[in-house]
Amino acid sequence: MIDLLKKLTQTDGVSGDEGDIRAVIEKEIKKYCDEISTDAMGNLIAHKKGNGKRVMLAAHMDEIGIIVTFIDDLGFIRFGAVGGLDVKDLVGRRVRFKDGTIGVIGSEDEEFSKKADINKLYIDIGISDTKKIPVQIGDRAAFVGDYTENKTSIISKALDNRVGCYILISALKKIKKNKNDLYFVFTAQEEVGLRGAKTSAYSVNPEYAIAVDVTDTGDTPSAPKMAVKMGNGAAIKVMDRSILCDSTVRNLMCEVSKKNKIPYQLEIMTDGGTDAGAIHLTRAGVKTGGISVPSRYIHSPSEMVAKSDVEACVELAINLVDSF
Ligand code: CO
Ligand code: ZN
Repeated sequence: MIDLLKKLTQTDGVSGDEGDIRAVIEKEIKKYCDEISTDAMGNLIAHKKGNGKRVMLAAHMDEIGIIVTFIDDLGFIRFGAVGGLDVKDLVGRRVRFKDGTIGVIGSEDEEFSKKADINKLYIDIGISDTKKIPVQIGDRAAFVGDYTENKTSIISKALDNRVGCYILISALKKIKKNKNDLYFVFTAQEEVGLRGAKTSAYSVNPEYAIAVDVTDTGDTPSAPKMAVKMGNGAAIKVMDRSILCDSTVRNLMCEVSKKNKIPYQLEIMTDGGTDAGAIHLTRAGVKTGGISVPSRYIHSPSEMVAKSDVEACVELAINLVDSF
């Protein structure tokens, strides 16, 4: 797992600025698909032809980050959030701009932890001469968070959702002869409102769709009550804030898991949504399900997943695509 997942998580791709991560994925999958294209929104769409049903697998490739809004006379960079940030946890974090410039987030408010106002934060790259600042309004930066793994688990920034991209890539490489007409879509701008999924689902026009993403867990001390546990297998989505999954798709996913002895668990996530939410409302509606990787500390620089869950999700995706 190390090399590919490390490359995927450590390549930055904040929403709306997915060029670098898209290039990495395109290079990785090119020779395994029949057609590959990028649409106007920046979605990467890989087609593996078949004569059966049109099935779309989607994983978003963007990640949360910040966007530069203003640079003051002393070189301190003000910023806004791209995606769901926990503002009170930002002080002291490092961010990385596209040219590799690293900055640290500081606060001008000593009482910051009480009010947690993003307008009281700035990024300090240690350059006070504004003429020498290699950053401009609208530039994005990603959070820094090294990739590390041990025997059972992986910790990194951007596992949301490069682990989903990894699952799609692995499935695409391993599927040899497919009956169904398969589209592997690496979507843009999920973190700012499922935007890429909306346009790509319209153009692909699938009969069935599966979104692959991370989900919360309920297995840490004082976590909210939730049935999902890290290490208990692929999570099959029942519901989140964006979708009530089609029950025939969900039941099929459970059957496929049982038949192939793939460990699985049912997921209800009360916070947040995924690309499944946008896809199932496309055109006249699409029967849609979700495969989720149980993940702790989502949207922190140290997201955590279990290797066995990732493997279970890959197996489920491979065995599911021709079952429709
Ligand atoms: Co996310
Ligand atoms: Zn996600």
